[in-house]
Amino acid sequence: MNKVHNFNAGPCPLPKEVIESTINAIRNFDNTGVGLMEISHRTPGWERCMAETRQLWRDLLNIPDEYEVLFLGGGASTQFFTIPANFLNKKAAYLQTGVWAKKAAKEAKNFGEVVIVASSEDKTYNYIPKNYVIPADADYFHITTNNTIYGTEIKYDMDNVPCKFIADMSSDIMSRPVDVKKYACIYGGAQKNVGPAGVTFVIVRKDLLGQITDRTYMNPLPTMVDYRTHAAEEAKNISMFNTPPVLPIFVMHETLKWVKETIGGVAAMNKLNSKKSAMLYEEIDRNSMFVGTVADKADRSIMNHCWVMAPGYEDKQDAFMAFAKECGMVGIKGHRSVGGFRASLYNAVTIEDVEALIDCMQKFEKNNK
Ligand SMILES: Cc1ncc(COP(=O)(O)O)c(C=O)c1O
Repeated sequence: MNKVHNFNAGPCPLPKEVIESTINAIRNFDNTGVGLMEISHRTPGWERCMAETRQLWRDLLNIPDEYEVLFLGGGASTQFFTIPANFLNKKAAYLQTGVWAKKAAKEAKNFGEVVIVASSEDKTYNYIPKNYVIPADADYFHITTNNTIYGTEIKYDMDNVPCKFIADMSSDIMSRPVDVKKYACIYGGAQKNVGPAGVTFVIVRKDLLGQITDRTYMNPLPTMVDYRTHAAEEAKNISMFNTPPVLPIFVMHETLKWVKETIGGVAAMNKLNSKKSAMLYEEIDRNSMFVGTVADKADRSIMNHCWVMAPGYEDKQDAFMAFAKECGMVGIKGHRSVGGFRASLYNAVTIEDVEALIDCMQKFEKNNK
């Protein structure tokens, strides 16, 4: 079988060392003679793995002590209602930069007033809105930092947010250093840059919890929805109110160790990601048969790269897709709302993978012009 280059938008490829160590742990976890999926989550070896995983998060993102790091089930989509459940008293503000942001806002509407401060829906979310006003009396302001479907990204930590600041970082977490202090809460599904599907990370400032007084809906909070339930467990250095998804957490542990030890940390990861991304955008911009979809280059994501056939070559779309498949490219079909192509260059995608894609784009141009 030819070498395959996996550019799927998620779940993501994982480092091969991570796959190997996971296979070993599934057979025999921590030299116990029992497999990872069969151990009790209360065994000391597992408790150590949980504590180490949390410490890796703290080290890699420089997370201050006043924040808890939680590993929950349910995917980022469950956080869409867990966030307002924990933080929305009366009013919340959302920046609508894609369907995930829209879905997050929709869930919040059950809890109180939702103000959409700006939206780029008018242009299929091909830009990040600027110059909007965040109401100072909002309980929080919510953004989606990376818009997986459209290839736009807010690549910096905003200043001057007049209320609590909350971000869905599902598809760019651990791709760049983050100034965690600016946020009340950061959350996301692990399945892009930090592991497989099945575990959701939540980084939350614990002193901001338990402040829901004005609301009647879902108040008091169901136990599992209340971040304080899980935060209390973390304070005991256990973080296991119920049975955690041990397999995805183990993979996350190995992936974060890889970011720290093999790559050299999140700043080094960002340097590598920026290099991969610049290589591909350069080819998209150079190649006469393709054109990028994001309106302003400054808004381009370094994770998800979207492009379509250039005017005059629209009829070659299927031919390029077939050729790319022949060359071993996997997962480059664009989302149906954008069309064309999307290559996701998550952390474990290598320079060689990007070179192979560029080579395929260049050959296609040469053969079809
Ligand atoms: C930015 C963003 N937020 C949320 C989600 C939903 O995540 P989950 O499938 O973990 O619920 C996705 C999934 O792709 C995403 O890209």
